[in-house]
Amino acid sequence: MAEKEKKRSSYISGKESRRITRFNRRVTKKLEKDRADAGKDPALYTTRMKDPNNVVEFDNVCTYFFTDVGVVKAVDGVNFDIPRCSTVGVVGESGCGKSVTSLSLMQLLQRPQGQTVGGEIRFNMGDGTAYNIVNTPNAVMETLRGNKISMIFQEPMTSLNPVFRIGQQVDEVTKLHNPEMSDEDIKARTLEMLELVGIANKEGVYSMYPHELSGGMRQRICIAIALACSPTLIIADEPTTALDVTIQAQILDLLQNLKDKLNSSIMLITHDLGVVAGMADYVVVMYAGRIVEKGTADDIFHHPSHPYTIGLMRSKPVVGRKVEELYNIPGSVPNPVEMPNYCYFRDRCEMRCAECDGRYPPEIRISDTHVVSCYRFLGQGEELGYPKSVNAEEL
Ligand SMILES: Nc1ncnc2c1ncn2[C@@H]1O[C@H](COP(=O)(O)OP(=O)(O)OP(=O)(O)O)[C@@H](O)[C@H]1O
Ligand code: SF4
Ligand SMILES: [Mg+2]
Repeated sequence: MAEKEKKRSSYISGKESRRITRFNRRVTKKLEKDRADAGKDPALYTTRMKDPNNVVEFDNVCTYFFTDVGVVKAVDGVNFDIPRCSTVGVVGESGCGKSVTSLSLMQLLQRPQGQTVGGEIRFNMGDGTAYNIVNTPNAVMETLRGNKISMIFQEPMTSLNPVFRIGQQVDEVTKLHNPEMSDEDIKARTLEMLELVGIANKEGVYSMYPHELSGGMRQRICIAIALACSPTLIIADEPTTALDVTIQAQILDLLQNLKDKLNSSIMLITHDLGVVAGMADYVVVMYAGRIVEKGTADDIFHHPSHPYTIGLMRSKPVVGRKVEELYNIPGSVPNPVEMPNYCYFRDRCEMRCAECDGRYPPEIRISDTHVVSCYRFLGQGEELGYPKSVNAEEL
């Protein structure tokens, strides 16, 4: 194949492919061993929160996938907090690393290919201690998942087991985390949860199978399962994407009410700005594995500052606003295996300036709550530094 052709088609020679395989095997083996070693000593996975009012602190988190074509930096130097009793919306287009961020927090990455190679994810246990999830052993994670942190997925039918009745599936979670409870108490708790999530015929639904319910009801059941143990944090990954608009609004209302009742926090992942606008207290905007802007919902919706966020706002239909054609952001995301060393949004950016040809922009605090990663704000706020990436070759 001619040199030019090879470049264009991202051709990988047999030799290169063998090198990547050897590298992946060596690195993932080492990372797995380091994690197993750290998991043996609680001192290595217990830590303290920077701010005890936070439930979770993502601190320079880097999660990479060691794939056959090279290292995919799915999440690269991500920093944000989830404060107690609040909803944090994580938005960005498909493939920007939203789900990988949440899976890193649950330690549900596809291992050994997927690895959190740098940073800390601190989870507040509420008793003055915290776990660094990155090093926490699986036995401890099992006591957190479904109990302290629970997750609601996009498609309720695939989250529920089609061959078990609804009641059994909700009972199972309570039983697992409360082995001392009697069967009658567990059933009573399940019925209480079904009522809480707005299921009118709770006794009937208890003995139904998932296929007998509508999409909205199934998602209510998933919420009941997620809330069965009154978690501190609920991760909702595109919870309403599979539902129609009216049911979507009901489910979001329900989530918000239950969160307030249980004093939980929500990490709400979505690509739909409308969903975030109605619900989130804070918003994190991700682009190609990095946070480009974060702030309160008011900062993001009324003062969007990063050109990507501005583009997202412009591409959102607004009732009452007449436009000839809905805006779309030109171009596409760079190749995840070979990310450039300049601003990842540069090639799509309509506001770029001379500095944009330099290295990736630093994070700049433009108000107490609002941080943006863009050269347009250089000198207009406190510089917080550059995202901390990990050089995979040095692992
Ligand atoms: N198991 C995997 N192996 C290799 N790469 C992966 C794997 N899982 C995710 N990725 C890559 O990580 C990046 C981030 O994926 P992620 O699923 O977090 O995107 P997302 O923001 O949740 O997108 P969506 O809105 O489509 O759900 C993508 O480039 C994806 O290709
Ligand atoms: S740093 Fe430059 S290229 Fe990147 S988003 Fe800001 S203006 Fe655009
Ligand atoms: Mg996703």
